[in-house]
Amino acid sequence: MKKRVLKNLYLLKWLGYEYIDPISFNSTENEISLPNDLTKLRELVLQCHLCSLSKTRKNVVFGEGDKNAELMFVGEGPGATEDETGRPFVGRAGQLLTKMIENVLEISRESVYIANIVKCRPPNNRVPTEEEAQTCIPYLKKQIELVNPRILVALGSTSYRYLTGDTTPISKIRGEIVKYQNRLLIPTYHPSFLLRNPSKKKEVYMDLLKIKRVLWQKL
Ligand code: URA
Repeated sequence: MKKRVLKNLYLLKWLGYEYIDPISFNSTENEISLPNDLTKLRELVLQCHLCSLSKTRKNVVFGEGDKNAELMFVGEGPGATEDETGRPFVGRAGQLLTKMIENVLEISRESVYIANIVKCRPPNNRVPTEEEAQTCIPYLKKQIELVNPRILVALGSTSYRYLTGDTTPISKIRGEIVKYQNRLLIPTYHPSFLLRNPSKKKEVYMDLLKIKRVLWQKL
């Protein structure tokens, strides 16, 4: 409830309100929806303080890429380099992701959209808590709605689990094509996992070939 009220107050402040009449707490009719415009959504998310990650972040990492991308990658949350720069996947894992996109999919990084489950860095790169993820995920869902990609790639188990609610281990579900709200969702291992377990690169290579086929086939 506190989060809902705060979210609505942020939205109203962002809309220019300085004063509002008392809010009724027992209905959803006062719920304000997120902006239907990616630039406006970004402005709003940059001012978010709805969870404690906002206290330790240096920058909010909203996401970046083609606003009309057919393919969207979803990671877990920013690391140190992303927190410094405000850009997703620009550290070591990001360099690997960029190579995967450019060398295997043979498309440019700028032609896809890249975002995360949480927009602020969890301290010491820990996995986001359930509460942090649930607080932040409406922003990602709105990004997905606005970019409207045909194919989503969930990078790693955290991304897959929070997007779908399915707790199947990533080792079992990776490479499968899962229906997700009229889109195709293909989970694969996270690039950070690949840096620690290079022998898994073969499996991700196979997943990327599948993603490439689906992208070209217009399935
Ligand atoms: N790992 C992620 O999940 N996201 C990033 O943006 C960077 C590293």
